[in-house]
Amino acid sequence: MSSLITAAMALALTGSIVKGEVRGFEQIAFSNVGFTGSYTPVKKMSHLDNNSTCKCEVAEKTWFEGYDAPLSEHLSVHFRGPLTLEKFAFYQSDNFVVNNNSSDSWTRMAYYDASSQTATNVTFLNNEGEDSPCVGKALSYANEDGTASASSATVLKADNYISSGEEYSIFSTDKCPKSGVNNGCGYYRSGIPAYYGFGGQVKMFLFEFKMPTETQANSSSIEYYDMPAIWLLNDKIPRTSQYPLNANCSCWASGCGEYDIFEVMNGTERNHLYSTFHTYQGIEDLGTGIQSYGYIPRDTEGTMMGGVVFDADGNVVSFVSNSTTFDETLSASAVNALLASIPKNETLSSALKSISATAPSSTKHKSSGFSLMNAQTGIWYYIVSGLLAFTQVFVI
Ligand SMILES: *[C@@H]1O[C@H](CO)[C@@H](O)[C@H](O)[C@H]1NC(C)=O
Ligand SMILES: *[C@@H]1O[C@H](CO)[C@@H](O)[C@H](O)[C@H]1NC(C)=O
Ligand SMILES: *[C@@H]1O[C@H](CO)[C@@H](O)[C@H](O)[C@H]1NC(C)=O
Ligand SMILES: *[C@@H]1O[C@H](CO)[C@@H](O)[C@H](O)[C@H]1NC(C)=O
Ligand SMILES: *[C@@H]1O[C@H](CO)[C@@H](O)[C@H](O)[C@H]1NC(C)=O
Ligand SMILES: *[C@@H]1O[C@H](CO)[C@@H](O)[C@H](O)[C@H]1NC(C)=O
Ligand SMILES: *[C@@H]1O[C@H](CO)[C@@H](O)[C@H](O)[C@H]1NC(C)=O
Ligand SMILES: *[C@@H]1O[C@H](CO)[C@@H](O)[C@H](O)[C@H]1NC(C)=O
Ligand SMILES: *[C@@H]1O[C@H](CO)[C@@H](O)[C@H](O)[C@H]1NC(C)=O
Ligand SMILES: *[C@@H]1O[C@H](CO)[C@@H](O)[C@H](O)[C@H]1NC(C)=O
Repeated sequence: MSSLITAAMALALTGSIVKGEVRGFEQIAFSNVGFTGSYTPVKKMSHLDNNSTCKCEVAEKTWFEGYDAPLSEHLSVHFRGPLTLEKFAFYQSDNFVVNNNSSDSWTRMAYYDASSQTATNVTFLNNEGEDSPCVGKALSYANEDGTASASSATVLKADNYISSGEEYSIFSTDKCPKSGVNNGCGYYRSGIPAYYGFGGQVKMFLFEFKMPTETQANSSSIEYYDMPAIWLLNDKIPRTSQYPLNANCSCWASGCGEYDIFEVMNGTERNHLYSTFHTYQGIEDLGTGIQSYGYIPRDTEGTMMGGVVFDADGNVVSFVSNSTTFDETLSASAVNALLASIPKNETLSSALKSISATAPSSTKHKSSGFSLMNAQTGIWYYIVSGLLAFTQVFVI
């Protein structure tokens, strides 16, 4: 408690808390990402066809640690319309570090190019499988439109516009071993096409896409009207349930990880793309998550290019740049040049909190540190880097 007050006073005294106007940026950089924590994976799902007997059981805690954790685990890539995907690429690196040109280069491990219909190490899935009253529809192969199911893996067609509320996802072509909490992909829903997402602690996802304004009229039947998004999930989430009624039917609520790269949050700010961590790195409200205090403008006319870098030093950077390239290998200096070409005043930098224990307490009062920080500004997690080193240790 006292260390929290000290930290809060230090912030107040230096006046470094971001309180200015929320505005647009081309680059949203977070540092100090990753912590030691745990989540509870699903161990078993039963009676999914009967709402009164449907049940999900969770296993003992799975622990994670290190830079970018828990997003250092395998991630699936998710898309919501209105959106057209022109290119997608996934890269791995042994040890890339932002701003270090002596660090390691990137190798492209998965690629989709709509116009040439190139599809390497990508499997297009969506939530159009078997329906369940308690955990929603299961994963299935997506058809060439992305919007209906297919009986086998199908490449998304060149003209692949999806409209408001429609969603699909990309996994790798690596098949999961047998379902089971101790197996490679964890426990997953029976009957689904089960593939690994994209792994490696140090990873980069690049996209070329359009997010045009929705042309249909708004109606209450359209969920997410004109709210496009591209986001990443711990791939265990969609393999059990992306939108469960019971929190135990996926590892999301216990904090296995989501990162929103470009997401419209509401109809009021429909041309603002926010980046958000849904991890427990210093927060209790996972639903709100750790959101960037600034956004990337949505270009509703042109083609957008950019993506996200997860480096080997806890830096996670969402960016847009028309200089983005999708080469098979990208040197450290090429990626650093791309990021560095974005002007300083177009770059928002924030540091996540350092925490040594993360178990979210079940009572709000127990960790009054969080409440104290929330009550005052709502954004105490964010500090413009360079003004103040912010290191805090919570022991809950
Ligand atoms: C669901 O399970 C309950 C309790 O076993 C049973 O009474 C009911 O008939 C089942 N409903 C359906 C639709 O199978
Ligand atoms: C840059 O990366 C290289 C290779 O990993 C490392 O030896 C060096 O210390 C790093 N430089 C800085 C400034 O961190
Ligand atoms: C299933 O039960 C939950 C409450 O446990 C309820 O909110 C939901 O509407 C039910 N779904 C169906 C399809 O009956
Ligand atoms: C496909 O991506 C997966 C997931 O990260 C990776 O493990 C695998 O090596 C990739 N396959 C190829 C052929 O690059
Ligand atoms: C669309 O309608 C919903 C209510 O049905 C509303 O919440 C939302 O803000 C509307 N979106 C726009 C862009 O007007
Ligand atoms: C989730 O599982 C935990 C541990 O088994 C249990 O204590 C809790 O009641 C379950 N929650 C729900 C909503 O079923
Ligand atoms: C829309 O989302 C932004 C970003 O989360 C938030 O600041 C704003 O208050 C939201 N507006 C409404 C009307 O909910
Ligand atoms: C990128 O190119 C598009 C045209 O496709 C243009 O509308 C946009 O302004 C450019 N973005 C930047 C940051 O220069
Ligand atoms: C890395 O190399 C690129 C391309 O030469 C250059 O633009 C950038 O300034 C370099 N970055 C550092 C930190 O040296
Ligand atoms: C950033 O700086 C450039 C040139 O220094 C200026 O033209 C531009 O308006 C600035 N952008 C913002 C958002 O302040």
